[in-house]
Amino acid sequence: MQTLHLTDKEYDLSQAATLLRDGQLVAIPTETVYGLAADARNGAAVASIFTAKGRPMDNPLIVHIADMSELPLLVAEIPPQALALAAAFWPGPLTMIFKKGDSVPNEVSAGLQTVAVRMPSHPVARNLIRLSGCPLAAPSANRSGSPSPTNAYRVAEDMDGRIAAIVDGGECTVGVESTVIDITGETVRLLRPGAVTVEMLQAVVGAVEVDEAVLNPLKDGATAASPGMKYKHYAPSARVILVKGSADAYATYVNAHAAANTVALCFDGEERLLTVPFLTYGPRNDAKAQAHRLFDALRRLDDEGVRVAYTACPSTDGVGLAVYNRLLRAAGFEVIILE
Ligand code: TXA
Ligand code: MG
Repeated sequence: MQTLHLTDKEYDLSQAATLLRDGQLVAIPTETVYGLAADARNGAAVASIFTAKGRPMDNPLIVHIADMSELPLLVAEIPPQALALAAAFWPGPLTMIFKKGDSVPNEVSAGLQTVAVRMPSHPVARNLIRLSGCPLAAPSANRSGSPSPTNAYRVAEDMDGRIAAIVDGGECTVGVESTVIDITGETVRLLRPGAVTVEMLQAVVGAVEVDEAVLNPLKDGATAASPGMKYKHYAPSARVILVKGSADAYATYVNAHAAANTVALCFDGEERLLTVPFLTYGPRNDAKAQAHRLFDALRRLDDEGVRVAYTACPSTDGVGLAVYNRLLRAAGFEVIILE
């Protein structure tokens, strides 16, 4: 299949919208990461997303809408908390899990009785939902298991020849996937941290439970609240090792342990302590910048044929929790604690 490379100009967007209406797959920019979109009402189109990504069939997709009027068509009920959260954070990087409406194909929900919905803020994503007239089911536009793409070049790397088109909307501003919360229970439950932080959610709904899978590997035999959490994720081919400690302790450790083909991921400015090849991924005290740069840094490890990547550990405050969560998974939970 020849993949069309489209711009975000109006005539290209209308072509992308026609493809989506036709049941084709189109990669689209969102403010978090690029998504691999299909008409969420078309079960066959949604099924082809799983083939293109090599995604396990039991991992459900997020449905993207552009307007609150589309929500009741997808869900069985809208809890009052959902309205408050939507008012605070939509459009934006928050995904809410609802009881699913009858019209949502099983391919979207992977057989669950729930459906994940998000209203993105990216103008191109919103335009495409409107122009196509379809709610768009879209996982991140990477081959399953790889770091999510945050620009069209990284999408093409994984998807060229496998999908109908890629719409180039520039760099994603957030850089990590949306916050996912389950709102079907009494207390809001965080399943995946993102740019809408625990602190921001608490300000709207009070208590928020953080699912165990956010910071821990799934125990043998346990069922994941969010099926995506059980797969190795966000991982480059390199072995990633997360190292907790001060800038000095990190540098001392990495300088002593680095072998051939080893790279150290570190915070801006701290590379001066390192005697080994490095990649920076943002200032130590700026989690938003880290989120913005993390996935491209992970993909650059593969560009350079790196075998082992040590990485300095971010703070878990605010958006840092999302950065830490993705790094834990990229590292397959291999963590070294210094001091
Ligand atoms: O920012 C994002 O969320 C991006 C952009 C494209 O919107 N999308 C994204 O989709 O990250 P994906 O498929 O890569 O991740 C969706 C996550 C998975 O971990 C999946 O298991 C979970 O959301 N999920 C989806 N539907 C669910 C449901 N009904 N119940 C529990 N978890 C669900
Ligand atoms: Mg994904």
